Amino acid sequence: MSTFKNANIMITGGLGFIGSNLARRLVSLGAHVLLVDSLIPEYGGNIHNIQGIENKVKVNISDVRDPHSFKYLIQGQDYLFNLAGQTSHMDSMADPFTDMEINAHAQLAILEACRKYNPGIKVVFASTRQIYGKPDYIPVDEKHPLRPVDVNGINKMAGEWYHILYNNVYDVRSSVLRLTNTIGPRMRIKDARQTFVGIWIRLLLEGKPFDVWGGEQLRDFTFVEDCIDAMLLAASSENANGKIYNLGGKEIVSLRQLADLLVKVHKKGEFVINQFPEDRKKIDIGDYYSDSTLIRHELGWAPKVTLEEGFRDILDFYESNMEYYL
Ligand SMILES: NC(=O)c1ccc[n+]([C@@H]2O[C@H](COP(=O)([O-])OP(=O)(O)OC[C@H]3O[C@@H](n4cnc5c(N)ncnc54)[C@H](O)[C@@H]3O)[C@@H](O)[C@H]2O)c1
Repeated sequence: MSTFKNANIMITGGLGFIGSNLARRLVSLGAHVLLVDSLIPEYGGNIHNIQGIENKVKVNISDVRDPHSFKYLIQGQDYLFNLAGQTSHMDSMADPFTDMEINAHAQLAILEACRKYNPGIKVVFASTRQIYGKPDYIPVDEKHPLRPVDVNGINKMAGEWYHILYNNVYDVRSSVLRLTNTIGPRMRIKDARQTFVGIWIRLLLEGKPFDVWGGEQLRDFTFVEDCIDAMLLAASSENANGKIYNLGGKEIVSLRQLADLLVKVHKKGEFVINQFPEDRKKIDIGDYYSDSTLIRHELGWAPKVTLEEGFRDILDFYESNMEYYL
């Protein structure tokens, strides 16, 4: 995509899982990339995520809750991929105010900085399917009611709507993508904070059985490179301004099928099906998969990577990089 050649691009959450993979793609497209990340240890940021491109990107370790640094960092940027976030649903229940500060308050502050110091910027915001809550129907399209089941969902919903509001009222061009479960190399595998698939991978590679809760819930998964395709399409399309798009996966699987596939790809390993723990059950959304027709029609996006190919890539990556992710 020539749009991004020599463009100045800021990625908040740029040392995290999706942000760092996006940075790699943008570097390969010839962009000038600035990564802004606080590296809070419990989140997915990891300096190893930029191994190999560390001399081709600029890194600023700062917190999106600091409006003073943003005032300067935002100036001169052509695009902002706004990915910094507190992503753990359980953490948002245990510490709701931190989640609110990062996922809602700071998002408003970032948009205020755009409005005042760089109104011509284009912003892409990473939202989440979590804001739909327990689906009334599946596949879930963008018209489905929003009924978040946890504090994280409420704050992410506020975060995305601030973006739409600033697009509509102040012409700070913004697009929102509602991501489903996203997987790929560089995701957090230390624990289940980012995704349960992370801890499955870790235990599998350590030769230990992993826990599958329930097992029958349906889910779809987007491979990170497909997610990045969507982000670049949204950034480069004027038709995407003020729009909200679901991302989805190529396949719909039960968690048991997903676990079976992971073991099959690794050619060894085992898992145990367990009951959902009580605290998780309360915020579980049951079956979910997305209807991503809108982005397919309007931006020509389609997921390309199968789960099997995705798992192969992920396992290859951690087999040689495990030590940096524990
Ligand atoms: N991975 C998924 O399945 C998924 C699904 C839906 C939505 N999302 C959204 O996509 C975005 C990226 O998620 P990810 O999976 O790459 O997670 P991640 O945790 O790997 O990345 C988030 C990054 O944001 C940084 N960050 C957190 N708080 C910050 C702060 N206050 N200031 C500066 N940086 C901060 C973290 O250090 C981390 O590097 C998030 O906004 C998340 O809500 C992800």
